[in-house]
Amino acid sequence: MISTKVAGDILDITSHRVKQILNSNDDLNFERKEGSNGQIKIPSNTMSKLLKMRDKEINPKTCVIKSQKGGVGGTTITINVAIRAAQKGAKVLVWDLDPESNATTFLMQEDYDYSQAKTALEIYKNEDLSLKDCVIPTRFDGVYLIPAKGIMRRVDRIVMSDNPKNLLKEKLKDLEGMGFTTILFDLPPTFSRLSESAYITSDICLLPTDASAFGIEGAILTKEDIHESCKNFEQRLPEIKVFLSRAHNQKRTSVKNSWEYLIEEFGPDMLPIKVPERADVVNNINDGKSIFDGKCSADVRAAIDELVEIVAPIGELQDHEVLQ
Ligand SMILES: Nc1ncnc2c1ncn2[C@@H]1O[C@H](COP(=O)(O)OP(=O)(O)OP(=O)(O)O)[C@@H](O)[C@H]1O
Ligand SMILES: [Mg+2]
Repeated sequence: MISTKVAGDILDITSHRVKQILNSNDDLNFERKEGSNGQIKIPSNTMSKLLKMRDKEINPKTCVIKSQKGGVGGTTITINVAIRAAQKGAKVLVWDLDPESNATTFLMQEDYDYSQAKTALEIYKNEDLSLKDCVIPTRFDGVYLIPAKGIMRRVDRIVMSDNPKNLLKEKLKDLEGMGFTTILFDLPPTFSRLSESAYITSDICLLPTDASAFGIEGAILTKEDIHESCKNFEQRLPEIKVFLSRAHNQKRTSVKNSWEYLIEEFGPDMLPIKVPERADVVNNINDGKSIFDGKCSADVRAAIDELVEIVAPIGELQDHEVLQ
């Protein structure tokens, strides 16, 4: 939930005006925090309604934030982008396709019966299962999840010969009418058939890389794989952008050199976004919090906000959802 100040910045009106609108519309829910001068907190669905009242909405998009290099912050960024996008009024679905299940264990509610989780394995094993019945709410307002589990590793054997162009897209049709604006896939660091499907059927693939030769190689290979797969399956290319993740102090020569190399390699597809390496990021994950709810430096938050603007951009109201 966000304050009237943050909401005002998003809606391009004053915080005072936000309060006036909230107080004069009975169908706009909000919470008043006790003990902090009655500070107002605005939930995701109210933000969505406020955007619509201003003739705006979150533009629907399907995205991947991951390259084929492990440990460069894919899941950490996906989780935080999902939570922030929802705070700004998006209805977000995270589909965890990584058997390591880090996004699932972070997002799922404490009392969720994980043994009942319906993952991609059950989805592709059982044709009668609707994807709608696999979606679960999370601990975070406006963020929903299709969970993952270790045993899900076996799914690749089932879908190995399926066309990745249709694999996820066909299933996502089950979610029509649920109002999701933003779908984020969290992927493992290997090019499985499901990962391939996620990359080639997304609108945007954001490839994080750290300032290492291995990280950069991972981003280059991922871009090549996406191109090759789109060609093989006659699929239009998604927008592919690269950004620096886990970036150390910019004065370090390794970061400077990597940055120059990345600009040369990716040209205009290199985003001017650097998610800094900070202990706050890990501390918040360990505390089960997003970087916007726990203590975190402004530069990390600004970088995540820039990614949110790409994944869940605010545009003119068109009244459609991602799955139409
Ligand atoms: N900006 C950051 N600052 C400090 N630590 C970070 C940052 N981003 C991620 N980390 C840490 O780096 C490790 C890897 O991050 P994460 O699991 O998000 O990467 P990943 O790309 O999803 O990895 P995998 O390929 O295994 O799925 C984690 O321990 C995480 O806490
Ligand atoms: Mg991960």
